[in-house]
Amino acid sequence: MSKINDLMVRGTDLLGSDYAILCGAMSWVSERHLVSAISNAGGFGVIACGAMTPELLDTEIAATKALATRNFGVNLITMHPQLFDLIDVCAKHDVGHVVLAGGLPPKGSLEAIKASGAKVICFAPTLAMGKKLVRSGVDALVIEGMEAGGHIGPVSTSVLAQEILPTLANEVPVFVAGGIGRGEAIAAYLEMGASGVQLGTRFVCATESIAHPNFKKAFLRASAREAIASVQIDPRLPVIPVRALKNAGTEAFTAKQREVANKLDGGEIDMMEAQLEIEHYWAGALRRAVIDGDVENGSLMAGQSVGMVSEEENVAAIVASLVQQAEAALHARG
Ligand SMILES: Cc1cc2nc3c(=O)[nH]c(=O)nc-3n(C[C@H](O)[C@H](O)[C@H](O)COP(=O)(O)O)c2cc1C
Repeated sequence: MSKINDLMVRGTDLLGSDYAILCGAMSWVSERHLVSAISNAGGFGVIACGAMTPELLDTEIAATKALATRNFGVNLITMHPQLFDLIDVCAKHDVGHVVLAGGLPPKGSLEAIKASGAKVICFAPTLAMGKKLVRSGVDALVIEGMEAGGHIGPVSTSVLAQEILPTLANEVPVFVAGGIGRGEAIAAYLEMGASGVQLGTRFVCATESIAHPNFKKAFLRASAREAIASVQIDPRLPVIPVRALKNAGTEAFTAKQREVANKLDGGEIDMMEAQLEIEHYWAGALRRAVIDGDVENGSLMAGQSVGMVSEEENVAAIVASLVQQAEAALHARG
């Protein structure tokens, strides 16, 4: 067995894949084509449910199943108003792995997923939260640092890995995400105790990805320093930062926050509605860039590893080069 397979064995056993390399769910990008391509190449694809209705998710899972010869998962956002209906849709299709994103799982959701026989994977933003999730029965954790694309926490991947892996990697498989662009980094996190990794940005420009050619072009041109985190402008309106390539849409988000803060001031909406309005804004802006190709005004969510995305390649080639780089790094260390 190769060294990388050896170090990933708990991850691959859990996922049922050749490599414990997940392609993290990316709204609008992680649909049937990319997800099935990742899983068929030996990695693990995850459908991004995002704001989809149960009916749309039902269609997407069925279409992915038709293309995939291997396991794939579904990512559900905890604050989705129809979370339990979405869980039922996953159960109907015997989806083996559900990833819960966007905060602590609501009461009963872990139990509902496990009752269907599926494994549950959750994000651990801190060690304390990770311990709590393990106690509540999650099957695996993802720790994602602020280098990542999309919604991010405040702590870097390297620090989260040092804080969480020594304690929790023996309890459940832990997948490290955020800022991984090459196999050498995969090797390093595996050596620190991770059972696998999750990448997003690196797969956006895959041939199989349906992202608009303009979106891919923006990724191919960008360097790490252009993938910047959004800034919160009003202390009363906590906004989860989003990492994206800087464009006119970045400025528009500042204006959007002002508009929502004013509505909050005027008593037109409450805090919950304010935050939902911000989240809907992002979903719409991402669609505008990924699907319509409006890379000026849409959101170009991207992680800092975008600087390592230099050509459009098929998924199998990307997975093969990550594995080869990781394997070479592990062998070089003896
Ligand atoms: C365009 C884009 C959209 C994303 N959308 C989601 C999402 O809908 N749900 C989610 O849990 N994570 C989302 N993410 C995060 C990815 O699943 C993954 O964890 C992250 O990209 C890993 O970091 P990396 O970009 O540095 O590889 C998104 C990331 C990107 C780049």
